Amino acid sequence: MSDPTSARDGVSVQVRGLRKYFHGQAVLQGVDLDVSPGEIFVIMGPSGSGKTVLLKHIIGLEIPDAGAISIDGQSIDGPGFMAKYRLAMVFQSGALLNSLTVGENVGLYLSEHRIKPEKEIARIVAEKLELVGLKGLEMRLPSELSGGMKKRVAIARALAIEPQLILYDEPTSELDPLMAVTIAEEILKLKQRIHVTSIVVSHDRDLAFGVADRIAIIHEGKILAVGSPEEIKANPEPIIQQFLTVEFKKEKFIL
Ligand SMILES: Nc1ncnc2c1ncn2[C@@H]1O[C@H](COP(=O)(O)OP(=O)(O)O)[C@@H](O)[C@H]1O
Ligand SMILES: [Mg+2]
Repeated sequence: MSDPTSARDGVSVQVRGLRKYFHGQAVLQGVDLDVSPGEIFVIMGPSGSGKTVLLKHIIGLEIPDAGAISIDGQSIDGPGFMAKYRLAMVFQSGALLNSLTVGENVGLYLSEHRIKPEKEIARIVAEKLELVGLKGLEMRLPSELSGGMKKRVAIARALAIEPQLILYDEPTSELDPLMAVTIAEEILKLKQRIHVTSIVVSHDRDLAFGVADRIAIIHEGKILAVGSPEEIKANPEPIIQQFLTVEFKKEKFIL
């Protein structure tokens, strides 16, 4: 078997006319997006606007009611698709397995698929934990960690497969400001080092405007605008300005 973790090139993502209903309620109402290889693409929008549902479709965890998603031009529901690409998602909750240690969680994919010798897996696990500021915590259990630490373990687990596409769902929520900066730096570093494509869903304005090549604003299941951080800031659409202003105010309030 070839070693899929040796892949180093980010993939492109195409979303076309994506619609999703839950209990007859439209959650995604025709979403179109194009993400370029190696790009950091941030999706911002209010709570309940469909951000997590959109990410789940991109990684194949939800099936569209209409529309299609392709990666490098290939439909994600095609045969053998998931074996071909390395996709990772950092869930908002972390989604760690509580009965496994931190080290086992981070190395899970590599050991399950017997891709590398155990010693090499241990080295990768140690390296990824160090990257997210959790050096030497391999033997801890998730129940012994804070919310922010769990989130960082989830990021380390995603990094362990050297993904070509990494989806982050609110990666800085529950983190203190300093760790939020570390995560932002990590997202940027990965882009440079392994040319990974990153899609980041976040409310965190500092993160969004700090790391994004482009930003999409989603509102009630529709994309209102896509552009560079400067273009989004200058967009006169009242809903966008209101959303950004509310975020600014919230931040001032917290500080
Ligand atoms: N599995 C599901 N079943 C029913 N409703 C869902 C499901 N997942 C999400 N929703 C609903 O879809 C809407 C968008 O959810 P979500 O994508 O999680 O929003 P957010 O932008 O905050 O991430 C919400 O109203 C949510 O309640
Ligand atoms: Mg969400």
